[in-house]
Amino acid sequence: MLSSLSSTISRLILFYPKPSIPYSLSSCLKTLKPQPMIPRWSPLHSLSTHSTSRLSTSLKPQFETLVSKDDLVVLGIETSCDDTAAAVVRGNGEILSQVVSSQADLLAKYGGVAPKMAEEAHSQVIDQVVQEALDKANLTATNLSAVAVTIGPGLSLCLRVGVRKARKLAGSFNLPIIGIHHMEAHALVARLIERELQFPFMALLISGGHNLLILAHDLGHYIQLGTTIDDAIGEAYDKTAKWLGLDMSRSGGPALEELAREGDAESIKFSTPMKQHKDCNFSYAGLKTQVRLAIESKNMYVENTKLLQSLIMCSNAEIPISSASSQDRRSRADIAASFQRVAVLHLEERCDRAIEWARKIEPSIKHLVVSGGVASNQYVRARLDHVVKKNSLQLVCPPPKLCTDNGVMVAWTGIEHFCMGRFDPPPPTDEHEDYMYDLRPRWPLGEEYAEGRSEARSLRTARIHPSLTSIIQASLQQQ
Ligand code: KG4
Ligand code: ZN
Repeated sequence: MLSSLSSTISRLILFYPKPSIPYSLSSCLKTLKPQPMIPRWSPLHSLSTHSTSRLSTSLKPQFETLVSKDDLVVLGIETSCDDTAAAVVRGNGEILSQVVSSQADLLAKYGGVAPKMAEEAHSQVIDQVVQEALDKANLTATNLSAVAVTIGPGLSLCLRVGVRKARKLAGSFNLPIIGIHHMEAHALVARLIERELQFPFMALLISGGHNLLILAHDLGHYIQLGTTIDDAIGEAYDKTAKWLGLDMSRSGGPALEELAREGDAESIKFSTPMKQHKDCNFSYAGLKTQVRLAIESKNMYVENTKLLQSLIMCSNAEIPISSASSQDRRSRADIAASFQRVAVLHLEERCDRAIEWARKIEPSIKHLVVSGGVASNQYVRARLDHVVKKNSLQLVCPPPKLCTDNGVMVAWTGIEHFCMGRFDPPPPTDEHEDYMYDLRPRWPLGEEYAEGRSEARSLRTARIHPSLTSIIQASLQQQ
């Protein structure tokens, strides 16, 4: 039932043949304006059979001109969590526009993302955000080559808003549509800012919901070296910030980073997670508990009794920091700094080991990409830069605006896949509002590195979609 109703996004990767136009030729096809007499739009067939610079007569009704990759213009839409984002990007990497509408008031009110509220907030602004992205790019939808949209992982209710908008637009303007993996987009945006970045490379992707260490062999081919067995680092930042009474309107991470600068990172000896597990997986639930206990001033090692006393005073720490005494503020800053030191140390240790593993698989790797919301943190960047240099690699870290959720990464990943012929035909114009879209809330990016399987494993395996890598690799084998 579900699969028969699924959108064509799910089928594109499975059934479409690999194009014969190599990515290195950097040539892609531009779509034609709507042609009502054409019953079926078959771009991948065309891409797969024409590696020359001209199209055969039979394809002319479907493709107007063959243009270079540089002439592609793709709209990217992102609504997987709490940011409603859209951007227009050209095939040569030029960012024509970027719009992000954040749910600051909701974050501040609930101290986190409430799916139903977030869905409503997305629905309220999605049309405006997309329109603004087109306006800022000085374009209309008719100028677009394709629409890319995040289909997972993320919150179903939220993903749905973006996918609905993308399909409506693509249907109305007869544009191909590309379903995007949110975490792949976080990784690939690094190739937009660092044009020298070639596969294979490593990536550490750190956000509110994910902690991933991957080896990116090729576009659509990822090996998962490590993941979190419980919470992601961004979630730990957000919870700690909330408990410390910080301003959550920009999410907890930036506020905690700021406060941590005032604190002594050695004042509280939180223990580093998963020391006994010699793998590349992550865990932040235990550290969260340690922080909570520290705030409640139980079960912690404090260097001086003054700090202990003031922690007792601030045990109800959700009192806003703005109304804290200077001593109380200092205690909170010490907790923030101590938390951050250990949270990031955990990343450093796992990256060190992952580099070792990755080199066994791909001795030629030269880069470690660090992306996702938490990668906008300056302390995180500095510490990981150290790890990378120690291992004679180069760090590629997108600018903060491209680390946190954005439409540019979605549009760019769309361009990368489009050029490999991985996209769907335009949806029907009369698609019903209740259409059951192919959304992938739990969607792994790569296949797990067999030698790196952890004994400490997450039990949350229900309703997981086959990984992006397995889908693409299966389709390549069918050809
Ligand atoms: O990638 P992202 O924008 O959304 C998700 O895909 O989750 O990441 C959001 C996460 C939040 O947990 C937020 O607190 C964290 O990234 N974050 C930061 C910083 N900026 C955002 N964490 C630490 N320091 C920051 N400067
Ligand atoms: Zn993200």
